[in-house]
Amino acid sequence: MLKSVLIICFFILVSNEASVQKTIQGFIGDSAVLPCLSTKQLKDLNAHWRYEDSKNVYDIEEGKWSPNEQDPVYKSRTETFPAEYSKGNFTLKLRKLQKSDAGSYCCFITEFSLQMCTALQVKEKQKGIQAKPDSIRGIESKAERIVSLLIPFFAGTVLLWLCEW
Ligand SMILES: *[C@@H]1O[C@H](CO)[C@@H](O)[C@H](O)[C@H]1NC(C)=O
Repeated sequence: MLKSVLIICFFILVSNEASVQKTIQGFIGDSAVLPCLSTKQLKDLNAHWRYEDSKNVYDIEEGKWSPNEQDPVYKSRTETFPAEYSKGNFTLKLRKLQKSDAGSYCCFITEFSLQMCTALQVKEKQKGIQAKPDSIRGIESKAERIVSLLIPFFAGTVLLWLCEW
C-alpha cells in the first residue's frame, strides 16, 4: 500500500519537475538574453529560434544568420553571438522589449534534435518605486521552488490518508 503511494508521489514529483521551465523577466524598452546551449558541438550548425512555436525569431543556417524569413516584429531587435556558435552557444538577445514579446521562446538545434525553451515575462518599469534587489527576488524564487516541491509530498500524504480509510 505504502509502496504504491510512494510510487504515485514519485511520478507527481517527476512530472512537476519536468514542467519547470526557465523564466526570464524583462522590462519594456530593455533587452532580454535568452539562452540556447548545446553540450555537443559541431561546426556550422543550424539553429532556429521560434516564438510560441510559430513566429520566426532568428535562423542560423550553417553557422550564419539567415534573416530572410525573420518575422518583421523582430527586425533590428535581435542579436546572436557568432563567436560563441562554435561552443554550441546560440544565445539570443532581444532588444527594445514590448509587452507583446512576452511568451515562450524555443531554440531548436535540428542536428541534435535539441530544444531549449525559455518563458519571457515583460513588465512595465515602475516609476518612483524602486525595483526589488536581486537578493529578494532570489529568495522569492527559492521559496517558489520549495513550494513546488512540497505540493507532490502534500498530495502523497493526502493519498496515503485517503487510502487508510
Ligand atoms: C553564451 O554567449 C553569451 C553571449 O556572448 C554569453 O553571455 C554567455 O555567457 C555564453 N554562455 C556560455 C555558457 O558560454
